[in-house]
Amino acid sequence: MSWLYKTFVRPNFFDRDSEEAHNLVINQLGWTARRRWALSLARTFLGGPSLPIELFGLTFPNPIGLAAGMDKAGAAVPAWEALGFGFSELGGITRHEQPGNPKPRMFRVIEDEALINRMGFNNPGADAMAKRLHGWRDDNRWPAHPVGINLGKSKATPLDEAPEDYLYSFSSLKDLADFFVVNVSSPNTPNLRQLQDKAALGEILAALQEANDAQRPILVKVAPDLGFDALDEILELIEPHNLAGLVATNTTIARPSEDGLYAETGGMSGRPLAKRSTEVIRHLYQQTKGAVPLIGVGGIFTAEDAWEKITAGASLLQIYSGLVYEGPQINRAILNGLAKRLANEGLAHIRDAVGIAS
Ligand code: FNR
Repeated sequence: MSWLYKTFVRPNFFDRDSEEAHNLVINQLGWTARRRWALSLARTFLGGPSLPIELFGLTFPNPIGLAAGMDKAGAAVPAWEALGFGFSELGGITRHEQPGNPKPRMFRVIEDEALINRMGFNNPGADAMAKRLHGWRDDNRWPAHPVGINLGKSKATPLDEAPEDYLYSFSSLKDLADFFVVNVSSPNTPNLRQLQDKAALGEILAALQEANDAQRPILVKVAPDLGFDALDEILELIEPHNLAGLVATNTTIARPSEDGLYAETGGMSGRPLAKRSTEVIRHLYQQTKGAVPLIGVGGIFTAEDAWEKITAGASLLQIYSGLVYEGPQINRAILNGLAKRLANEGLAHIRDAVGIAS
């Protein structure tokens, strides 16, 4: 099926600027999201087998989620479930509305199936996002799968006021989603990644947990560029701040070469990120002896890639670049492959495969 996308659909998108193509797709999915017949048609063609997994008090119909950054403004919330995703992460959202960095700011390295972006948290701001999410709920179009929100820091907010910035967004959105991801790992907001420092991150998490009256699961998303020592420091925050888990990983500032589009500044995602992202997952799983739920993300294109991350220690997975390169059949293909793999290995559930190669 993916050849259909690659032969007939993808060339039309890849002829355009990367962000323009992205906006076209999001508009199309927003249109689909407002028509129940279109959603059920998509579900029929794109849904995969059910591979349920329970984690931090939520039931996920399958372990493949939409990664943050694809639906930054909650423009197509009901569509992601219809595309076969077992959960979705919306945003990144910041306290203040932001235009992001000057364009162009998203690039495809097609031969390597990589993306480079320096979007810089373009988003409508927490209050506008809350209004939009209320809209989907009021229209009775909220998806049945778990929905998370990715929280970032406004560019204009100084680092030492970061806790208030995250807290504002969290407070305005906390009743509207099932889980939250604190993103301190985007390479595209100046100095943001300094907030991965144990003390700074601890302050943000303390502020959020104090306001977390409904006990929403809160996770932290880490950069693949952190060394194992720095990752271990973040692990020390898990218990005191009651973290539900970690998302590993965000995009990387590393490059396989310095040629062509790789010279563009920003975060790289897609196939060349897969290996490092899996290394980080494996390290986190080993250090915590599997006690901390991990969402694995970075370069997942096939069932084989997904299996590698699950067996390294990820209980859930997320996809961004794979959707761009493989098309909307990617979930069905991966889920079918995972179901077969489980059967071949004599395992009944995804959770039985988590970490078995760690
Ligand atoms: C992202 N990603 C991202 N992550 C995040 O935590 N908050 C965000 O706002 C964004 N925005 C964003 C925009 C664009 C254009 C891309 C390509 C990526 C990172 C994303 O969620 C994921 O961690 C990486 O892309 C790695 O996964 P893939 O793309 O290799 O499957």
